[in-house]
Amino acid sequence: MSILRIPGPLDPHVHLRGMDWSHKGDFATETAAALAGGYTAVLDMPNTPPETARPQALARKRRELDRTAHCDWGVYYGAHPQGNLETFPEAFQGVVGLKIYCNPTTGFMYMRSRTREEHFAAWRDHGLVAVHAEEEEVAAVLELVDRYRIRTHFCHISTRTELDMLREGKRNGLPISAGACPHHLFLTELDLPRLGSFGMMKPPLKTQADQDALWEALSDGLLDVVESDHAPHSLTEKQADEPAWGVPVVETTLVLLGTAVDEGRLTQDRLVQLVSTNPRRIFGIACPPNTWTDLRLGLAEPDMIAAANLHSKCGWTPFEGHRVTARVERVSIRDTLAMAGGRIKVEAGFGRPVVQQRIGT
Ligand code: NCD
Ligand code: ZN
Ligand code: ZN
Repeated sequence: MSILRIPGPLDPHVHLRGMDWSHKGDFATETAAALAGGYTAVLDMPNTPPETARPQALARKRRELDRTAHCDWGVYYGAHPQGNLETFPEAFQGVVGLKIYCNPTTGFMYMRSRTREEHFAAWRDHGLVAVHAEEEEVAAVLELVDRYRIRTHFCHISTRTELDMLREGKRNGLPISAGACPHHLFLTELDLPRLGSFGMMKPPLKTQADQDALWEALSDGLLDVVESDHAPHSLTEKQADEPAWGVPVVETTLVLLGTAVDEGRLTQDRLVQLVSTNPRRIFGIACPPNTWTDLRLGLAEPDMIAAANLHSKCGWTPFEGHRVTARVERVSIRDTLAMAGGRIKVEAGFGRPVVQQRIGT
């Protein structure tokens, strides 16, 4: 048994919900889940109504996070299919990047390639663009990166084909990075009969061969980060005739990765890079002093993941019953013990905006 101390793990891809979707999760419950899962900071996606695609909605989200987040937080601005170029200058300062949805998914922000290019180009010189792009859309975005040379992060990569395209892009010196998610790393389409709609997300679960390619890419450095894509939906919404896409996973990502270390599938150094060093470098966010997570590895008696022990409002997990040999023991944020033994030790509102921790500003 040993303790791995990880400097401030940062999850660059969560959907905390809140506001009009507070029935799925809110800033207090979902940042508590992040903290219990060992994250000291999370970056929140814009597809929750009112969408973070207008300065007013951005201001409201920032205000509510400021009042109620347990861990540090950042937010993305979203490119809106109806066009919101003119609002970009007001958003630059308060966000960690621009999100563009290049495939349909939860929410109403899917942007067709016609409008995509001008929004992509307009973010130039103002930081990073993150994209939801699957398969051929990865190729389409790579062309834009080649043309405009804007730093671009490819979210939730899930197939060997996508990895091959990204490898080629990196070889050609494009300023790109890519992330993979715990559900694609620890589940495949073979889990679908068991999970039903609780295994449905975008991009969908893939084959064992795709999963093997993801693990190779985690080890060889083609994949830069593990991001949770924490996407809670209520039980009713998941059990509906047309179930919502997305799975709540932020609280179980680090223990699953720690278990992979115990199984010899990942080194400790690589784990630290994937959940801390790389996301902080890519998004330009410094780790505050005395900010770390103690992850216990090699539990003699494995823990069993159970929704009953988790903090997300939605009350379910796609990893119910999974055995893990890693446990998040303690989290310190700016010299304050923020979580210990599964208990949140800080008040809602303790979390600070990561834009104040920007490197080089
Ligand atoms: C996400 C959500 O529910 O907001 N759903 C998902 O299946 N991943 C949106 C997204 O990341 O595409
Ligand atoms: Zn997505
Ligand atoms: Zn997402």
